[in-house]
Amino acid sequence: MLPRDARLYVAGRRGLAGSAVVRAAHAAGFTDVVGATSDELDLRDRAAVFEHLLDQRPTALVLAAARVGGILANSSRPADFISENLQIQVNVMDAAARAGVRRLLFLGSSCAYPKFAGQPIRESSLLQGSVEPTNEAYAVAKIAGLMQVRAVRNQLGLPWISAMPTNLYGPGDNFDPHDSHVVPGLIRRLHDAERHGAGTVELWGSGTPRRELLHADDLGSAVIHLLDHYDDPEPINVGSGFDVAISDLAAMIAGVVGFQGLIVPDRRRPDGTPRKLLETTRIRGLGWQPTVELREGLADTYAWFLEHAC
Ligand SMILES: NC(=O)c1ccc[n+]([C@@H]2O[C@H](COP(=O)([O-])OP(=O)(O)OC[C@H]3O[C@@H](n4cnc5c(N)ncnc54)[C@H](OP(=O)(O)O)[C@@H]3O)[C@@H](O)[C@H]2O)c1
Repeated sequence: MLPRDARLYVAGRRGLAGSAVVRAAHAAGFTDVVGATSDELDLRDRAAVFEHLLDQRPTALVLAAARVGGILANSSRPADFISENLQIQVNVMDAAARAGVRRLLFLGSSCAYPKFAGQPIRESSLLQGSVEPTNEAYAVAKIAGLMQVRAVRNQLGLPWISAMPTNLYGPGDNFDPHDSHVVPGLIRRLHDAERHGAGTVELWGSGTPRRELLHADDLGSAVIHLLDHYDDPEPINVGSGFDVAISDLAAMIAGVVGFQGLIVPDRRRPDGTPRKLLETTRIRGLGWQPTVELREGLADTYAWFLEHAC
């Protein structure tokens, strides 16, 4: 286990995943949790990242900073997604190695797995097929990050690791109508429809794809658990083990926000990967399991939205 007085640096500490890691670290007893916002440190600025990490000299680092977005943002700005994510992760990992960071956890993504990987997706599926074209640039950047962690382990002998989270949601999510993931996107649209008395809401795509969802606080506890208990070159899946059809998810969110109209599939929009469920035997074997039930998690995400983003 990492000593609780070790300095833990969370890159992306203000984001959905990063803020959950900070909460989980405090809950686990860490007393020296640090990090910077993008206003204080642009992780694309290589010289500034080196200066910062050489000054901070953390014992452990969680790399939860990235340019992240939904299907629309991914498919309309692929150059930004590949370039910024490569810059952020290469700068942080190079500087962390220079600064002697002993433990580093890189957050990959289930998007990095092949589009038609067998379900549930095993860690061994990585690089066994082509990724979903709508998020190819993002996925390739993530794959490069996974490979950099493995290369550092091989070359420098440092016990760095990668985790592959499934789709996350929770307090602090991005509710931008043009740049959000499925849960916050649906919360905003169904909330707006309910407030304006709209009779119907269009659902992006057919509604049949199935998605696994994990509350950010479960990801936070998993990250701390992995820092304490996992040391292997292979990325490890972090998921809830439960998937839901988008149409059922929309109905559940409609219940949470009080929308009573019709939800109509818009089949002209792309569906993305038909199903995405991670095989989580390995992380469960290490003694971790998720604790936030989906409906309860949606309700607490909606409460956060009402207070902060509405
Ligand atoms: N959300 C998901 O469903 C999901 C699923 C699987 C994996 N992941 C992975 O989890 C990680 C975090 O995702 P998230 O959902 O937490 O995203 P997020 O809420 O958008 O947070 C991203 C964080 O990255 C920081 N950041 C972005 N560009 C930066 C830059 N140039 N310089 C400094 N900081 C920068 C942001 O900092 P500021 O807030 O200070 O601007 C923010 O804190 C990513 O690696 C992502 O691939 C996410």
